[in-house]
Amino acid sequence: MSAASAEASAIATAELSGRRVHVKVPATSANLGPGFDTLGLALAQYDELDVEVGGDGLRIEVHGVGAGEVPLDESHLVVRAIAHTLAHYGRDLPPLKLVARNAIPHGRGLGSSGAAIVAGVMAARGLLAPEVEISPDELLELATELEGHPDNVAPALFGGLTIAWVTPEGPRHKKLMVHRGVSPLVLVPEHEMSTALARSLQPQSVPHEDAVFNVSRSALLVAALIQSPELLLAATEDKLHQRYRAEAMPETDRLIRVLRDAGHAAVVSGAGPSILVLASDPSERADAVRLVEESAETAWQALPLAVDFLGATVTRVDEA
Ligand code: HSE
Repeated sequence: MSAASAEASAIATAELSGRRVHVKVPATSANLGPGFDTLGLALAQYDELDVEVGGDGLRIEVHGVGAGEVPLDESHLVVRAIAHTLAHYGRDLPPLKLVARNAIPHGRGLGSSGAAIVAGVMAARGLLAPEVEISPDELLELATELEGHPDNVAPALFGGLTIAWVTPEGPRHKKLMVHRGVSPLVLVPEHEMSTALARSLQPQSVPHEDAVFNVSRSALLVAALIQSPELLLAATEDKLHQRYRAEAMPETDRLIRVLRDAGHAAVVSGAGPSILVLASDPSERADAVRLVEESAETAWQALPLAVDFLGATVTRVDEA
């Protein structure tokens, strides 16, 4: 490090020293059937994070999901996202204490890696304020740079239903409010699925008619989610990703068929293996849970989750 950059880094560390933030980030379900890499929904199950600048080096505690499993050094995904965001604004990673309390299941298609990234970006946003103001587009861009695609990080950041798309200037999003009748149910198996494996099963190209099929269903799905929940079954059909990944999660694929045959709008949540049922009223969720209990060959946890409309929040605790 040059003398000048060492001095700049020392200033940055002094500037942030003593600042403490609390961050809360919702789980998310991406794709929602036809909206591959585009649509996402924020769900009311949360990872929480406390970050304090100061002390000696990096200290990390993880409670709940991931405790004893995730790394406790600079390779921790939240720390990488904090460092990435600080570096973008010319700051080095200062000494930190980080305490994570996680409730979002890992490796199940509920956006846990997107939530960790968003937690880090939002923590850095809170620590840098008021000297640096980070706009919503910049938050999405920083998070997408680490996640690779914007469909989980957009709803984790902004809440509700999000449409995310990529432009030459960076990713963009539109947040929509979901019809109050829409009642999500998430079914979580005990086994995990790697997103990298799921993505490796995607073909390089798809038939034109399949692309048209998904364009029509994606457009219909936005209407169904914000206005016409009775269309959810037709609107959640997909030909772009679930069929290619089915062999890697056969139980998920089978249960989705059982649920859809009974009229439930069931899809793979994100890259799987969890299932998202977009019920059109709360009583439908109970029927879907009963059906899965009767049909499943392995244990599945049923989580009836509300839609989160707020997205990620960050609060400066040292100023309170
Ligand atoms: N759209 C992504 C996929 C979500 O299905 O691969 C998982 O990160």
